[in-house]
Amino acid sequence: MATNIQSVAPRWQPPRAAGERNYPYNCWWVAAFSDEVGRALLGRWLLETPVLLFRKENGEIAAIENRCPHRGAPLSLGCLNGDTVQCGYHGFTFDEAGKCINVPSMRAPLPAAQIRAFPVVEQHPFIWIYLGDPSAIDSVPAPPKLDWAEDGRFAIVSGRLDVEANYMLLKENVLDLTHFGYVHASTFQITDWVDPPAFSTKGETTSYHQTFTRTPLPPVFAEPLGLAPGTLYDRDNYGSFVSPALQVAAVDLKDPDSGEVAGRFRVSHATTPIDERSMYYFWVAGRDHGTSEAELAALKALTERGFAEDETMIEAIEALRRKDPRGAAAPEVSVKMDTAGIQARRIVQRWMTRETA
Ligand code: FES
Ligand SMILES: [Fe+2]
Repeated sequence: MATNIQSVAPRWQPPRAAGERNYPYNCWWVAAFSDEVGRALLGRWLLETPVLLFRKENGEIAAIENRCPHRGAPLSLGCLNGDTVQCGYHGFTFDEAGKCINVPSMRAPLPAAQIRAFPVVEQHPFIWIYLGDPSAIDSVPAPPKLDWAEDGRFAIVSGRLDVEANYMLLKENVLDLTHFGYVHASTFQITDWVDPPAFSTKGETTSYHQTFTRTPLPPVFAEPLGLAPGTLYDRDNYGSFVSPALQVAAVDLKDPDSGEVAGRFRVSHATTPIDERSMYYFWVAGRDHGTSEAELAALKALTERGFAEDETMIEAIEALRRKDPRGAAAPEVSVKMDTAGIQARRIVQRWMTRETA
């Protein structure tokens, strides 16, 4: 006899409603640098989701919910046995797929104690994670690749900042580089970025391109090329908002007489919301010149100092916004230089709209 009773899997629901956040779940985000995840359990909040990351015995990455369904202990306080995770509270044990394979007090598995497992992709130097609707994963763009990070001619340095600010504040920061002359006047010493660059938007990517012709090279670009700071040189600066998770930027340093590219500098900014008010900021910088150990150590130290300046500024903006009772009604004026930042906001809005459609 036919029945109208059907078994329907519960529809995926985001941990926070779309109207209360400005980041999409149906998107690949950076969970960690590859070298942060090994045979120790790593717990991390990503998009208000508790995530446990570990490297399996075969070297692949696993990601499951970092919350035991028994009494809510973080599984990161437990231990890794082979490729299974034992909760540190009462010993429930889970496999890499989030299946409960043993409850010590029952001496048996407990299928009802299933937790989520998340798709992950390791692409040097990042581990990407998908935390959204499982049924939508095939319709979202794949994690973007940093081709230069895999190019043997480039040496890279990287770091992570845990920033108390909404992730879009960092996106807008790296899309308006006129801030260099103010925030980084004493670190990067790039003080000639005054005019708005050329802007373009193609699909869901918004970009800028700025050219400097026969202008004095700041030390950060001159020294790795073996040139004196202030040498007149050409610089091509361009960058793109690739996805809500990733921004990339490039500087090609060109000999003004021959037009040859003498050095390539690249930097990427991956930001992953912890929640509405905080983010992980994973940065990677690389270049194909000035690659000695000492030069790279100097690049890393300078970049850390410079990006800490951005952190101070955007954390102060976030704190001010939170205290201002006018909230989103507080005045905000924009100028031509904000073109890419405004496009980025619109692109994120479209990601959100697609998610809730
Ligand atoms: S809370 Fe994990 S086994 Fe009890
Ligand atoms: Fe900056």
